[in-house]
Amino acid sequence: MSRAAPAELGHVPVLLHEAMAALEPRPGGVYVDATFGAGGYARALLDRGATVIAIDRDPSAVRAGAALAASSGGRLRLAEARFGELDAVARRLGVEAADGVVLDIGVSSMQLDEAARGFSFRFDAPLDMRMEAHGRSAADILRDEDAATIADILFHFGEERAARRIARAIVADREAKPFTSTLELAGLIGRVAPARRGEMTHPATRAFQALRIAVNDELGELVRGLAAAERLLKPGGRLAAVTFHSLEDRIVKRDLVRLSTDQTPPGLPVPASAATNQFRLLTRGAERPDSEEIISNPRAASARLRAAERIREAA
Ligand SMILES: C[S@@+](CC[C@H](N)C(=O)[O-])C[C@H]1O[C@@H](n2cnc3c(N)ncnc32)[C@H](O)[C@@H]1O
Repeated sequence: MSRAAPAELGHVPVLLHEAMAALEPRPGGVYVDATFGAGGYARALLDRGATVIAIDRDPSAVRAGAALAASSGGRLRLAEARFGELDAVARRLGVEAADGVVLDIGVSSMQLDEAARGFSFRFDAPLDMRMEAHGRSAADILRDEDAATIADILFHFGEERAARRIARAIVADREAKPFTSTLELAGLIGRVAPARRGEMTHPATRAFQALRIAVNDELGELVRGLAAAERLLKPGGRLAAVTFHSLEDRIVKRDLVRLSTDQTPPGLPVPASAATNQFRLLTRGAERPDSEEIISNPRAASARLRAAERIREAA
């Protein structure tokens, strides 16, 4: 199997081999690709003979996937929705339980590279950052929220140590003119919190990550998406989640470890068959891309994969 996505689609699937190895898709099985993007994972599932329900909250990703769905002989159904409600989406499409769910969290290369989406300060563009076509944009947050709230966003979602200083400067400067463009915001951060000695990334990188997470409620969605996947999986069904930064990986790790841990109080004389854990971990620690993948796709560098298998009916 090739590691590269078709060039015209612009997104190279990350940890594709590892995700498929974790899911072990089987012909005729039903799988949910909860983050369709450019369809790299969905294609790999279809190639293995699976039936796929694919979800993306970005209407342009769903539109771009229409041709693949049309050529799939009914094996790929695409829905514009949030993965926080993936079990409800599957049920609406007549699927009561799935053999696998895969989440490949975050933004796609198409979203990052399309200047007008406002995810990147590589381009001067409106400060938007919405994956969906509605809701509050990053510019709305910077216009409406007080300094404490903006600082909390930068600190909690970007681990930005200069969060308060940046937030105060935003609130002071917006009196003259609200922040509406990516380069205006990146410029302000470069001025008030310049890169530390030896820091290789642009000083606005953490703030842009933080705002994107806030605009799209990405961590809330991840928590809801994991819970929805767990509800939908049948015994023997597998969940694989690929994340791109430590905040997300921590949520996935805690959730999968909790579900895979027997909650019987220690010392109680219960047989092993009465253990309460509904899942078993398929990955010891997180799997990471090898150096070959990172060289061919630098965006893979921070990716982590964790997976688990449902071993009992939901309680
Ligand atoms: C990293 S890309 C997925 C790439 C895909 N695995 C592929 O191989 O082409 C992430 C995609 O998930 C979508 N997404 C992010 N959060 C979502 C959510 N809560 N619900 C549905 N889709 C979401 C984004 O719009 C984006 O298209």
